[in-house]
Amino acid sequence: MENIHTIALAMVKKGKGILAADESNGTMAKRLESVKIPSTEANRLSFRETLFTSPKIKNFISGVILYDETIKQTASNGQNIAELLNEYGVIPGIKVDKGLVPLALCKEEKVTEGLDGLNQRLLEYYKLGARFTKWRAIYNISNIHPSKTAILSNAHALARYAAIVQDSKMVPIVEPEVLMDGSHDIKKCYDVTASVLNECFNQLIIHKVDLKGIVLKPNMILNGLQSGKKNEAKEVAEKTLDCIKKNVPHDVPGIAFLSGGQTEVEATENLNSINKINDTKFMFTFSYGRALQKSALNTWAKNINDKKSVQNVFDARSEMNSLATFGKWNLQLEKKAA
Ligand code: 13P
Repeated sequence: MENIHTIALAMVKKGKGILAADESNGTMAKRLESVKIPSTEANRLSFRETLFTSPKIKNFISGVILYDETIKQTASNGQNIAELLNEYGVIPGIKVDKGLVPLALCKEEKVTEGLDGLNQRLLEYYKLGARFTKWRAIYNISNIHPSKTAILSNAHALARYAAIVQDSKMVPIVEPEVLMDGSHDIKKCYDVTASVLNECFNQLIIHKVDLKGIVLKPNMILNGLQSGKKNEAKEVAEKTLDCIKKNVPHDVPGIAFLSGGQTEVEATENLNSINKINDTKFMFTFSYGRALQKSALNTWAKNINDKKSVQNVFDARSEMNSLATFGKWNLQLEKKAA
């Protein structure tokens, strides 16, 4: 029987991960314009439908996070998008936050909005076929950030969101993203991520969220993008695993990382290293946006009618990440797939 525990387990099943195809129209416009394709409703659907109908999607992808526009679109065969995904053995999910707004009185910090009317929107998304949801909070690192206010208010919103979603019989993906930008080192990223996760779980527990029915989507522990330091996969894996072990309760079935601006291969290599040393019961998988779609998008931009080539590239990327969930990926396999 389908319930939030079985859905959460299916989302993080070994060998599979989640495709984050929930870019808002603004973000999608940036992605498409970067490859000189106009961001029309038809083009957004065409690229996404090409990925969703990839021949191997059912082998490597457990779920897809959709955007409001996409879940209401009709595929070229006349099915709605959630039906199409179900037919391909993929669980449909939906981004339900309404994006970032400035956090009042906290310069340069953001809080995520979208709680007003959320239960009503969830009723509609459930009818359309969604069985899980996503809400993303972000935190930036600097000498003075994130503030206590940002850590508390975002954790509170994430927990209220998760409670409302479980009340609607869906699985919330809880995404507290500590951004990569900054000149900080990996230790600072560890400390900030630890405080952020700690407060998130405090709030989730206060709000009575059933931890067996969520999927956590955190960042990996990395050096800041402008630090000039290279990330070593072994160190990333050790620090990420340690941070999760110390700050995430055992009831959480699985952790699906975001890629956050890592290259496709970095994101795969780091996930692989984490799984190689995983001595916990947590399932560690991927919920990547850019790190699953970048090469596919570049291929599509070369010839938007050549669906087969796009699907081959997407399937190969998904397969590399699938191998990484077993700790069985390596550079030779990567070269062969390319
Ligand atoms: P990236 O993997 O591109 O960071 O996107 C994941 C995501 O869902 C961000 O909210």
